[in-house]
Amino acid sequence: MSLATQSIDRAAVTDADLIPALRDRWSPRSFDPTAEVQDDVLSTVLEAARWAPSAMNSQPWRFIVAKRGSASFAKIHAALMGFNKVWADSASVLLVALTETEDAEGKARPWAQYDLGQSVNSMIVQASAEGLHAHQMAGFDAEQLRASFDVEAHLAPTTVVALGYLGAADALPEVLHEREIAPRERKSLADIVLVQD
Ligand SMILES: Cc1cc2nc3c(=O)[nH]c(=O)nc-3n(C[C@H](O)[C@H](O)[C@H](O)COP(=O)(O)O)c2cc1C
Repeated sequence: MSLATQSIDRAAVTDADLIPALRDRWSPRSFDPTAEVQDDVLSTVLEAARWAPSAMNSQPWRFIVAKRGSASFAKIHAALMGFNKVWADSASVLLVALTETEDAEGKARPWAQYDLGQSVNSMIVQASAEGLHAHQMAGFDAEQLRASFDVEAHLAPTTVVALGYLGAADALPEVLHEREIAPRERKSLADIVLVQD
């Protein structure tokens, strides 16, 4: 592994100072395939997810958490699609984030996906503060996950999150390496703030 590429600087180039956990967060595909996330660190990251805000405090998030080497990790990895399958096996942890789409009476929870996103974001920002990296994925077969883990009908596998420590970018196949080092871009504030009085 090349140390030069391991310390690749992907921090956001921002117009204002952000807290380090936000500034330094980015979504790598190069994870250290030998690194493990300690249990206390994993618990801290999950605690951040737990304490996210949600509509009516409904907390409509559930997680399947699997360390590399476990049977559950293999099942999650098997459900990944396309390039995700190529890089995500190096992550220390694969985590399925599920939305609880209905309450106990079968009534729809209209804000549930929004709430799950907030929970996952809290998790990822905490992970960043712990020196971890996270990469969310929508490219997976939700029905395969549902079957593999016997997921109940009111829960919807929504994203898979890879968690781990940064690895060497040049260990990736060429096409993924290019994406790994491509400039990070965002719309301008002028594009996203419609009204600011
Ligand atoms: C809901 C969601 C789904 C995503 N799905 C994938 C995916 O399937 N594969 C992938 O490589 N990246 C995926 N990403 C990562 C985004 O491409 C990435 O966050 C975005 O390009 C911004 O880059 P950054 O996170 O490094 O700032 C996903 C991100 C989110 C939030």
